[in-house]
Amino acid sequence: MEVTIRKYSRQDRDAVLSIAGASFEGVCLEHRMEQDFGRVGGASWQDRKKKGIDYDLQRRSRDVLVAEADGEVIGFVCTRLYRKRSIGHVANLAVAPPYQGQGVGRRLMGAAVRHLRERGMDYARVETLEDNERARNLYPSAGFKEIARRVYYFREL
Ligand SMILES: CC(C)(COP(=O)(O)OP(=O)(O)OC[C@H]1O[C@@H](n2cnc3c(N)ncnc32)[C@H](O)[C@@H]1OP(=O)(O)O)[C@@H](O)C(=O)NCCC(=O)NCCS
Repeated sequence: MEVTIRKYSRQDRDAVLSIAGASFEGVCLEHRMEQDFGRVGGASWQDRKKKGIDYDLQRRSRDVLVAEADGEVIGFVCTRLYRKRSIGHVANLAVAPPYQGQGVGRRLMGAAVRHLRERGMDYARVETLEDNERARNLYPSAGFKEIARRVYYFREL
């Protein structure tokens, strides 16, 4: 499979959002909330997750990269720039389930790091849930060092 990493364009929006809905099951806070509390805010976890990603697609489209194979978008990475601190944030990274485990996520992460460097950032950060084994293998091997763990709480009001 020949995979190209390229800049996001507006025509990729539906594909990116569809990958987001298909790939974050069990590995994002939105899904964890729904598992324990049912639908939150009247929307499914997929719709809430997609909304967050869509915000980056609309507002920070030049900092989004996609992976393409045979003319099809099969993965994406959204980055954000914290310019004053010179820190780039790898905010969302996902590969469509049928294409996972074939090196695409690693390629996207490498491209995201290069992109952040080219945009003048001195550091990069990324977070994942403790039991996301794939991400926790990928990030250290992509050059990231674990610096802290955080615990997320949630309650009904
Ligand atoms: C995490 C994700 C982006 C990785 O992309 P991928 O294309 O599947 O991963 P790659 O094939 O590039 O593998 C990169 C590394 O991840 C780890 N990895 C991949 N699949 C794995 C698995 N099934 N179990 C454990 N580690 C795995 C390995 O360290 C691998 O490196 P190696 O092949 O040199 O050992 C992808 O699996 C995904 O979209 N997952 C769901 C969404 C998600 O969890 N995103 C990150 C949230 S923070």
